[in-house]
Formats: sequence, C-alpha cells, structure tokens
Amino acid sequence: MNSNIKKVISVVGARPNFMKIAPIHFEFQKYKDKIHHLICHTGQHYDEKMSKIFFDELGLPAPDFYLGIGSGSHAVQTAGVMVAFEKILLEEKPDLVIVAGDVNSTIACSLVAKKMHIPVAHVEAGLRSWDREMPEEINRILTDAISDMLFVTEDSGLENLRREGVDANKIFFTGNVMIDSLVNNASLIDRSPVLKDLQLAPGGYIVATIHRPSNVDKAESLAGILQLLNKYAKGRKVIFPVHPRTRSNIKNFKLENEVSPDLILTEPIGYIDFLNLVKNARLIVTDSGGIQEESTYLGVPCVTLRDNTERPVTVTKGTNYLAGTDMAKADRIIADVLDGNAKKGVIPELWDGRAAQRICQAVYKALVPS
Ligand code: UD1
Repeated sequence: MNSNIKKVISVVGARPNFMKIAPIHFEFQKYKDKIHHLICHTGQHYDEKMSKIFFDELGLPAPDFYLGIGSGSHAVQTAGVMVAFEKILLEEKPDLVIVAGDVNSTIACSLVAKKMHIPVAHVEAGLRSWDREMPEEINRILTDAISDMLFVTEDSGLENLRREGVDANKIFFTGNVMIDSLVNNASLIDRSPVLKDLQLAPGGYIVATIHRPSNVDKAESLAGILQLLNKYAKGRKVIFPVHPRTRSNIKNFKLENEVSPDLILTEPIGYIDFLNLVKNARLIVTDSGGIQEESTYLGVPCVTLRDNTERPVTVTKGTNYLAGTDMAKADRIIADVLDGNAKKGVIPELWDGRAAQRICQAVYKALVPS
C-alpha cells in the first residue's frame, strides 16, 4: 500500500457497536485516497441475530479481521480479545485504532493499542453512570483515561472529562453517531413490515428490552420485571425481544411460569425492524443505553429500569424517565405516561446525523499533514 496512506482500524464487538461504526466507515470512504479504513470484529457477539444481521442491514462490508472470541467471563473474554488483537496490530501497524462505546471489546482493544504506542480514539467518550458495579462503567473510565481523541455525544460527557483532567485538546464534541445511523436508515426504517407482521397498530403497543446483569442475573429482579410487564400486557400488546442473556436466565431461574401468555416474546430483532417498532410504540420499557437515546431522538416516551444513566441528557432534555429498579415506581411512571402525561422532549445538541462527518474530519486533521 502507498505509504502516504494512513491506516485506521475500527473495532466492533457487541451489538451496540455496529450502528456506531457504520456511519464512520461510510464517511471514511470520502477520504479513501488518504485514509484506509478497516474493520475488526472481535466476535464478542456472534449469533446471526446479534451480529451478522446488523452488518447486512447497515450495508457494512464483511469485517477485514474477525477474532471469533465469543462468550466467557469478563477476564476470559477481555483477555481473549487482547491476545488476538495484538496479533492484528503487529501485522497491520495502523496509525489509529477507533473504539466505540463501553463493551469489553472497547477496553480490550484500546489497552492493546495504547501499549503498542498506537493512538486510540474513543467514540462516545465521557459518559459516566457513577456506578462502578456496572462492567461498562469500568470500561468507559479506563478507555477514556488512555485515549488520545475523545469524541463526545452530550454535555455531561464534556463536563466529566474536564473534571477528570483530560487535556481539552483531546476532547471533541461531535454529536451522536448512533443517531447518524438512524438518520441514514430513516426511509428503510419507515418501510419495515414489522408492524404488519406482528399485527400491531401505531401507538398501540409497548416495546420492552431487558438485558443488564443487574436486572436479569438475579431471579428476584427478573421475576419482578416480568410481573410488571405481565400487568401491562393484559391491557395492550407488549413486544419483548429477548436478549440471549435474559432468555438463558429465564430458563436457569425456572421463571417460564412468570411469563404470561399475553406477553409477546420474540428473538432479538434486527436493526431496521427494531427501530420501526420503537418509532411507532406508545412507550418503551428498557435498561439499554442506546435505546434511551434512540427513543429521545424519535420523541417516544422511555421508562428506564435502572437507578442511573450515563446518558443524562435523555432525561433532562429527552423523553426518558429513570424509574430505578423499584417496580412500584416504574409502575406509577408507566401508568402516568399511558394516561397521556408523557413529557415532550427535545433533540439534544448535535444529534443531527452528522457526527461521523465531524469525527472523520478530526481524524483526517490529526493524521494527514496539511
Ligand atoms: C454486552 C455488553 C453490554 C451491552 C450488551 C448489548 C459488556 C461488558 N457488556 O452485554 O454493555 O449492552 O452486550 O447486547 O461488554 N450470547 C449469545 N449470543 C451472542 C452473544 C451473547 O448467546 O451472540 C449470550 C451468551 O450466553 C453470553 C451472554 O449472552 O454469555 C452475554 O454476552 P456478553 O457479550 O458477555 O454480554 P452481554 O450481556 O451481551
């Protein structure tokens, strides 16, 4: 390859990474005479419905490198990614590694790159839940601490990084790439047949997604959430696409009887259909990070079953409510929203579909001498 061309490797591993790296990959094609952009998939998520469908739907090419790491304890998974990614970096010697979000692949790859003196850029930097029992919080803090370029989605991220003493020159307020993907795919999302397939009327159903260890790794918590969903499934349709972690815990804890026949359980749903479901829902009940942002952008009320959120703008400006893990409180908020008292949100600053443009411009400026 022409040695004047810079090489950038972006890492994806788990479901929420794919829609964050896709717009960056497409944007880099504009710079292809100067920057060669490659994608490394760690294989943290590997099921067709957790991984491949996203590549297909987002129009991403097959990854240039696939590490095939799969599931395991935190140490096994993180270490597996590190060992395999080091080999890729030794071979490829990129000029920059881009990581996104807060999953185990994010910290694993940034740590390897940084120790090989390869600069690291973190997309979605600065978010903090202040809950160090969440594996994602540890991944966020550590990744930010060693990153050279920190791309921030919301004000709180800027404040957090400043407070942690990060050099202002490393921080870029670029907006939200997850919203870029939503904007880029808007017409496909609108054409999805999912409502017809599931026999749903726009505004007439609730979408629920639950997968956080704090909610699903304890029988009592998971049972409480299922009981709450059962209650609302009596009056209207509740669509519940089940994450593999949640599905296996329903089985392990023998909670099958807690799933009422009124609840509509499905396999994990692909990106396009899922966003159509979110867009047309009356209400979302979730513990996901990304869905808090997507529902805020789409103006759909969202009740988050967590005590904290690393995305506070979705609560202060958006349509999100933090219900905590107290199901009585969640019940009151849901009832109130369904009564027609949902707050009207606004779209946060720079969630405009152009975050990838700003990120790639900053990378170009940093890598390519003018
Ligand atoms: C991971 C991320 C989490 C993110 C979530 C989105 C970390 C620490 N957690 O959590 O931040 O919100 O992805 O989904 O990185 N499994 C499958 N098929 C798959 C993937 C997983 O069956 O394709 C099952 C396995 O039993 C596995 C379990 O799900 O043990 C959990 O997977 P893992 O990648 O460890 O964490 P997630 O809960 O998916």
